[in-house]
Amino acid sequence: MIDVAVTPAELAPADTVVVIDVLRATSTATQALASGYRGVICVDSIERARALRAPGRVLAGERRCLMPDGFDLGNSPLAVDDGADRELVLCTTNGAPAIVAAAKIAGEVMLACLLNLNAVAEAIGGDVQIVCAGTDGALALEDVYAAGRLSALLSGERTDAALAAEAVARAYPTAIEALSASADARVLFAAGMADDITYCALESVLGVVPRVRSCGAGIASVAAADTVPV
Ligand code: MLT
Repeated sequence: MIDVAVTPAELAPADTVVVIDVLRATSTATQALASGYRGVICVDSIERARALRAPGRVLAGERRCLMPDGFDLGNSPLAVDDGADRELVLCTTNGAPAIVAAAKIAGEVMLACLLNLNAVAEAIGGDVQIVCAGTDGALALEDVYAAGRLSALLSGERTDAALAAEAVARAYPTAIEALSASADARVLFAAGMADDITYCALESVLGVVPRVRSCGAGIASVAAADTVPV
């Protein structure tokens, strides 16, 4: 069965969960792994991120779109540098906590965005719940759009939620139109980060499939399990 949770509140135990936060947590995590970071440690609080600071680790994330004090990077995939085998500690408002929550209850957790859409679709086999990170507990249009695009690439029976997400995806001729119509894009645009919206709308330009490797209290460690040619 292919299911879509339009917010993390509907996250349900499943063999495979795919978390989506197009603007911008899963886009940034995917970009980091594609840029040579050894892993992305997703955390659910700023304090936890700061406690993880160590040589070979880069702290990235946002609060209200902006880089938290003392961090090294914001949450922009465009700001991700050459990973040089370091680890990125990623703390964001919605995406990182959704990944941590999924890691607690699912057998396997992958991260998807538009940048790695085809690669993730190829990696999924069997039942899957696609979980949209949303924004502050509410549905985010860009996540539902990407969930619908991913669902449409999969074979199998769909729940009504998956069919509804696919219908949302079909309503937009292009990804950039869907992302630009969202409330999160308006916030990024107002913050001067329009380039992030354009970049996150690129489709299947990265072959990385990020997968959660381990989890602990408030933490989910992600690595690139598969990299397929694009
Ligand atoms: C989040 O996790 O809430 C987002 O990725 C927010 C952002 O990128 O500004």
